[in-house]
Amino acid sequence: MFDAIARRYDLINRIFSFRQDAVWRKAMLQIVFKDENRVILDLATGTGEVLLGILKHDDGSRAFGADLSFSMLQGAQRKLKKKGAEKELLVQADAATLCFADHSIDTVTIAFGIRNFAQLSESLEDIFRILRPGGKLVILEFSLPKNFLIRWVYLFYFRYLMTPAAGKLSRQAEAYKYLDRSVEAFPEPNIICGHLHTAGFDPVEAKPLTFGVATLYTARRNK
Ligand SMILES: C[S@@+](CC[C@H](N)C(=O)[O-])C[C@H]1O[C@@H](n2cnc3c(N)ncnc32)[C@H](O)[C@@H]1O
Repeated sequence: MFDAIARRYDLINRIFSFRQDAVWRKAMLQIVFKDENRVILDLATGTGEVLLGILKHDDGSRAFGADLSFSMLQGAQRKLKKKGAEKELLVQADAATLCFADHSIDTVTIAFGIRNFAQLSESLEDIFRILRPGGKLVILEFSLPKNFLIRWVYLFYFRYLMTPAAGKLSRQAEAYKYLDRSVEAFPEPNIICGHLHTAGFDPVEAKPLTFGVATLYTARRNK
């Protein structure tokens, strides 16, 4: 499905999030760079938006991008090339079986990817495995606002305006129906925090962004 929407993915994100996606990614990067990193993995990197943000920071860390979809990775490759950074490594990989050594990564980032992982527990366990003790996982994902009125307005926009319009613009109506379904079905932040604890992360934090339309999770591997 992501192969099919890769070409217009960035454009559609910008239009329908009113550029909020860029603001949220910035908040994510602030958490990433709170600590010193030698190696960062942007998992479910897609077209490389977070990866490019990491490279822009230029703090001497080495960054990799991994994703299941080859076409999304091709989009990332094109953008990296434009920035003269094509040597950064992109890998086609499934989050549940990552091709990285134990304890080899300081920080793993996942923006709007975890919702799509078919094997959530296995993926979190494998991310835990590749993180060094003291390393962290930073996740940015959609969530539903707690306030009833804001939630109603948001769901109205999401279901009846954004989903059909994005479907038309991308000519991939099913993909954007899936986006709506997957956001509405994704577990609440406290459940996700529970999954992170079960995978071994401690402490785990969840911070709502823009009335809870998105949530930023920080999960640390302490041992
Ligand atoms: C909504 S896009 C997010 C892309 C990017 N992180 C961003 O912020 O724009 C979700 C990405 O998750 C990837 N994905 C889905 N399941 C995956 C898995 N099991 N392992 C790795 N990547 C996966 C998809 O291929 C897609 O590129």
